[in-house]
Amino acid sequence: MEDILRVENLSKQFGGLKAVDQFSMNVQRNAIHALIGPNGAGKTTITNLICGEIQQDSGEILFQGESLGTLKVFERARKGIGRTYQNIRLFDTLTVLENMTVAAKVEHSYGMLRTIFSYKSSQMEKKERRDKAMDILKYIGLEHLANEHVRGLPYGNRKILEIGRALVTEPSLLLLDEPAAGLNPSERRRLMDIIYKIHEDQISVFMIEHNMDVIMTISDRITVLNFGKKIAEGTPKEIQNNEEVITAYLGNRFKKQGA
Ligand SMILES: Nc1ncnc2c1ncn2[C@@H]1O[C@H](COP(=O)(O)OP(=O)(O)OP(=O)(O)O)[C@@H](O)[C@H]1O
Ligand SMILES: [Mg+2]
Repeated sequence: MEDILRVENLSKQFGGLKAVDQFSMNVQRNAIHALIGPNGAGKTTITNLICGEIQQDSGEILFQGESLGTLKVFERARKGIGRTYQNIRLFDTLTVLENMTVAAKVEHSYGMLRTIFSYKSSQMEKKERRDKAMDILKYIGLEHLANEHVRGLPYGNRKILEIGRALVTEPSLLLLDEPAAGLNPSERRRLMDIIYKIHEDQISVFMIEHNMDVIMTISDRITVLNFGKKIAEGTPKEIQNNEEVITAYLGNRFKKQGA
């Protein structure tokens, strides 16, 4: 299977701290690939480097075979990299639908800079944006909340809405930073159903998560990070039984007897 993402010898230092240290990883197209590890291991930093929010000190990131170099966040988004954030970034005072169309508008405006704006085309664009946003809300099961203000939404729905917002830019690779954090078991089930659906629709998923039930259930492949370095990589079963991973992060809770 072809790789959608290749990360080669990536390093990032903050002051004296090596947050990411010679990290390499390949994410296969159409996989659900997880990145796990203790707090402060460097997981979010890796996501920020892939998205272009920060620039690596050394190493290379290739997306669909092409080096991302110093491309900015919106340029990487246009190439097909979408993400959600560990801390929800929604506009509380806007409605669910407005949060979706704001994302669409930001994406649209880059291409539109080269276009002459007429009233008619902007009205058409507005309708297109709205229709697309409603389609995605249906897809993630939030269409009945389209006109609700985000500030009134339960936390679980906000986390799901963040994923919806990331889908507006039509990513081929979606990076999720702790999508299950703070969700109750039924919300986690919903989240997993949505991730499966995204996966079935040929979007590759790269996911950071601390909830091991979620990770071990849905991942095809898991990379384990500790102090910025990769310490293991493999299938959920291999990872659950890897002694170094158990010592650094998992403990014995997930060890499969007899495996
Ligand atoms: N912008 C920054 N400036 C300085 N230090 C940073 C910055 N971003 C991250 N760090 C540090 O880099 C290390 C890795 O942080 P990172 O957020 O990537 O960890 P993480 O694996 O995502 O942890 P968690 O599971 O708690 O979210 C931490 O020690 C953190 O304090
Ligand atoms: Mg993090």
